[in-house]
Amino acid sequence: MEWGMANRMAQLFQKDGHCLFLPVDHGYFQGPTRKLEEPRKTLEPLLPYADAVFVTRGVLRSSVEPDNSKPIILRVSGGTSMVGKDLANEGLTTSMEEAIRLNVAAVGISIFVGTDYEKESLLNLAKLVDEGERYGIPVMAVTAVGKELEKRDARYLALCSRIAAELGARVVKTYWCENFDKVTQGCPVPVVMAGGPKVDTQRQVFDFVYDGMKKGAVGVNLGRNIWQDEHPVAMIKALRAIIHKKATPKEAQEIYDSEKSKKN
Ligand code: 5RP
Repeated sequence: MEWGMANRMAQLFQKDGHCLFLPVDHGYFQGPTRKLEEPRKTLEPLLPYADAVFVTRGVLRSSVEPDNSKPIILRVSGGTSMVGKDLANEGLTTSMEEAIRLNVAAVGISIFVGTDYEKESLLNLAKLVDEGERYGIPVMAVTAVGKELEKRDARYLALCSRIAAELGARVVKTYWCENFDKVTQGCPVPVVMAGGPKVDTQRQVFDFVYDGMKKGAVGVNLGRNIWQDEHPVAMIKALRAIIHKKATPKEAQEIYDSEKSKKN
């Protein structure tokens, strides 16, 4: 691996090989998502605890200070919306030249396997990988399910993750699911877990992140279940403990409970 690529990968993953990526890119197709209406307000208290931030160039320029940042994973796919015809019909929205200008650590793109736009999204990924490899910028592939959340099972996610790795993604972001080891075992590059829509309790999040880490994930790219929580800083601190300190769900819950009463 050349120096630039190796350096960017080292920015994404900590010395233990694990990572906590904080995605705040949801507005690119959802608009002002709940608790992300003002991205700067959402981000600022959480930034110290994130290993990298997944963000579009618009939010990066408007809401992240260049002298107080974390490694950036730039969302470079889009062009669709919640109210449009088909979320899967994404294209590339940001050039590699812009990614270099913004000094990002990686770029991220969604793929939509099994949809009418499977081929386009996979060829977009392949093209992005060609450009990223030319300049030493890793590509994170996002195995998107659009509105079809029920697609999140091991068979489908293993298929998507493997295809993403075969096309050259350096990191794959997918969803946690039952039998998650089937996903990680079939994917020869690091796998990180997204959270999906907010679940009812913090403990559910701690349980699935812990299970996923045991089954081979290297970390998370987890948004709504952090910043839509009533105590986002407590939540991110508790998750860091699972990811970087091998805390159990019970220990994470204790951290959350003790942190939530502190003023952040
Ligand atoms: C949305 C994304 C998000 O980065 C991803 O879904 C993770 O966020 P969450 O944990 O809220 O699902 O790709 O476009």
